[in-house]
Amino acid sequence: MSTELDREIARRRTFAIISHPDAGKTTLTEKLLLYGGAIHLAGSVKARRAKRYATSDWMAIEKERGISVTSSVLQFSYRDHAVNLLDTPGHQDFSEDTYRTLSAADAAVMLIDAAKGVEPQTIKLFKVCRLRGIPIFTFANKLDRYGRAPLELMDELEQVLGIRAYPMNWPIGSGPDFRGVYDRKSKHVHVFTAEGRHGETEVQERLVPWDSDEMRGMLSQSEREKVSEDIELLDIGGDEFSLDKVRQGQLSPMFFGSAMTNFGVRPFLDAFLELAPPPSGRESSKGFIEPTREKFAGFVFKIQANMDPSHRDRVAFLRVVSGRYDKGMSAFHTRLEKSVRLAKPTQFMASERTSIDDAWPGDVIGLFDPGQYRIGDTLVDGDTFDFECVPRFSPEHFAIVRSKDPMKRKQMEKGLEQLAEEGTIQIFQQLQMGMKDPIVGVVGQLQFEVLQYRIEHEYGANILVDKLPYAHARWVVGPKFDAKAFDWEGNRQTVQDRDGSPLVLFRDEWAMHHALEKHPELTFLAHAPQLKASSVIVSH
Ligand code: G4P
Repeated sequence: MSTELDREIARRRTFAIISHPDAGKTTLTEKLLLYGGAIHLAGSVKARRAKRYATSDWMAIEKERGISVTSSVLQFSYRDHAVNLLDTPGHQDFSEDTYRTLSAADAAVMLIDAAKGVEPQTIKLFKVCRLRGIPIFTFANKLDRYGRAPLELMDELEQVLGIRAYPMNWPIGSGPDFRGVYDRKSKHVHVFTAEGRHGETEVQERLVPWDSDEMRGMLSQSEREKVSEDIELLDIGGDEFSLDKVRQGQLSPMFFGSAMTNFGVRPFLDAFLELAPPPSGRESSKGFIEPTREKFAGFVFKIQANMDPSHRDRVAFLRVVSGRYDKGMSAFHTRLEKSVRLAKPTQFMASERTSIDDAWPGDVIGLFDPGQYRIGDTLVDGDTFDFECVPRFSPEHFAIVRSKDPMKRKQMEKGLEQLAEEGTIQIFQQLQMGMKDPIVGVVGQLQFEVLQYRIEHEYGANILVDKLPYAHARWVVGPKFDAKAFDWEGNRQTVQDRDGSPLVLFRDEWAMHHALEKHPELTFLAHAPQLKASSVIVSH
């Protein structure tokens, strides 16, 4: 007999959309909310400039539409499903946030612009999903414009990403002639009727058998022949559908559509929810934790401050891995080794932040954070263990940060501290006498811009960012490490992290290897010594 826990797990789907900027992620998100009944009229998103710095693409929707969707997860229901859509920030640069968010997802939707094909950011994000082994669905977008031929897109997925695609449907026409998608399983065509208002409302669609006079009347002889030929080619030469391969991330179910006109959005959503897996468990220090474990457990994958500028609040986002979360419950905070009350949890519905009474595996809850959470923290009821699923990063760009106005130094420091806790930057202290300005380490260059923007807008301090010539950071563990004597003009500099652990910044690989060879008595780590190596991502 299935329990309430089993039933809630079975109906949940938690996923993220991965794409290159401009492929249409914001538009598709909005359309999914429209179909999920969470909003009633979709409007095209225009706040593009604001979006560049927005921590969330949804902030752009919020600005444009005046609804509160600024959050890291949107939950909506669709038919019997409870759907959690996780936001991945749209920065052009390598983004740690995105990687961490993916650790909370059970499936990914790879959105590609059918005219542009696979783009650089798509490749990076795809690789992370591959590493995690999560199922990857492909949505070829903007079919309302002339783009690449569908077979060419499939080929590109294989050549560039090394994944085979299984088209679940096939476009009928393209550009202004894009009229529908042929569903391979039912051999019916979803025929769409444009409503001419940029997809503000759900599109009219009818299911017409491919082998019918109505369908024949709709297409010219040559159009019909082309589609028949393509489908025959797929049936004979393409892969066989295998749910196992899909679930293991080895075969990508592919869909065609236009997020702007809504063509193909519902067929995609229906099939996606059927094929995507329910919430999976996660690895921990005590083995794999199944979602069906009766007691509550979860991990923090993101911390966000100032979500509501009028409140200066800070929210820790926790993915529930097992058991049931009940309002007001307490759980054991394994890093602090104490029981904490999970205060003011909010779940992020599309239209408002709602206080919630319960949450289940796959859900994300936002915990009010008075400063006690860090990314990667585990909260658990019952036997304790630590989740080991949120990746950490070794910074690759460094800069000395100063306040332009000395009177604003306090504000700057507060902002830096805050951003460090959010996991956007790492702060290091210089060790030489009189060198009081902090060094900031980031993974992608763009984070310096985000830093400047946020410290100015959220903390009112203008800062100067003086880039340093270092490219690698290594924490040092060893019996006789003399931090001060270790500096080597311009090639390496010893600093201290926020926990007081020493680390060395190296100019280049040569400088790093030189130190390694000269000091066999020391161990150099790409992460702070208290972290597990397996959770650290070093890009070189
Ligand atoms: P992103 O979040 O992935 O960065 O993309 P976003 O949804 O903001 O879309 C980027 C641009 O692509 C927008 O155009 C958007 O309207 C357009 N777009 C999204 N989906 C489709 C589609 O299916 N077909 C077509 N033709 N265009 C699509 P924009 O000109 O930058 O903004 P706007 O003036 O249209 O709002």
